[in-house]
Amino acid sequence: MGVVALVPAAGRGERLGYGMPKALVPVDGVPLLVRAVRGLLDSGRVRHVVIAAPPSEVDVVNTVTAPLATPAGGAVHVVAGGSERSDSVRLALTYALREIPDTSIVLVHDAARAFTPPAVVDAVVDAVAAGHPAVIPVLPVADTVKQVDASGVVIATPDRAALRVVQTPQGFDAAVLLRAHEAAHEGATDDAGLVERLGVPVVTVPGHPDAMKITTKFDLAVAEALLVGSGGAP
Ligand code: CTP
Ligand code: MG
Repeated sequence: MGVVALVPAAGRGERLGYGMPKALVPVDGVPLLVRAVRGLLDSGRVRHVVIAAPPSEVDVVNTVTAPLATPAGGAVHVVAGGSERSDSVRLALTYALREIPDTSIVLVHDAARAFTPPAVVDAVVDAVAAGHPAVIPVLPVADTVKQVDASGVVIATPDRAALRVVQTPQGFDAAVLLRAHEAAHEGATDDAGLVERLGVPVVTVPGHPDAMKITTKFDLAVAEALLVGSGGAP
């Protein structure tokens, strides 16, 4: 059973404001992207990784990921990403289905979720392998959430108990993910959102706080603290 992980890493990191693409921002000397890919490979469940890199940084990404050890028969592949995240995922998916034989399960994992524990990867792959065509890791919502109108006036207060915060890796049957991306709907902020629109059920597994997405300087500081808290594991 071939598990291929697609890693969208082609964003500019504007909210982080580090002056370089976020995927290449180092934490304790190791770029976020390298940490994210290492977490996928450390799960022991992923054979091939396809990274969608910033188009101007394909060579740099090849260089920084070259030392990563892949399982026998596996490899890290780098393609140029697109202008939106969904374009980057689609480009990586197209490459995987064309170039990597036996791609049956596909994970999509943000480079920005660099500290995702391998156990989350494991849980997602297990659930897809058990027959669920779409699986996402989630956490409960800690804050009360309001729905507001265009001028900021509250319309509704959804029941917090029924809400979840969504993380990656999201796991899919490869054919289902392809169908979802071919339908090319606008406005979905994650891959599961595209799959939902096909009417395919999406199931959840427990995520982990460490799988937080690094978006802002505050998040980067939290990530650095996480590393110190874990004894600075490389
Ligand atoms: N991504 C991508 N291709 C794009 C845009 C985003 O592959 N055209 C990736 C990012 O590299 C990141 C993930 O999608 O790993 C989630 O996106 P986000 O956190 O928004 O990252 P950036 O787009 O880099 O950040 P910003 O929106 O602040 O510029
Ligand atoms: Mg973005």
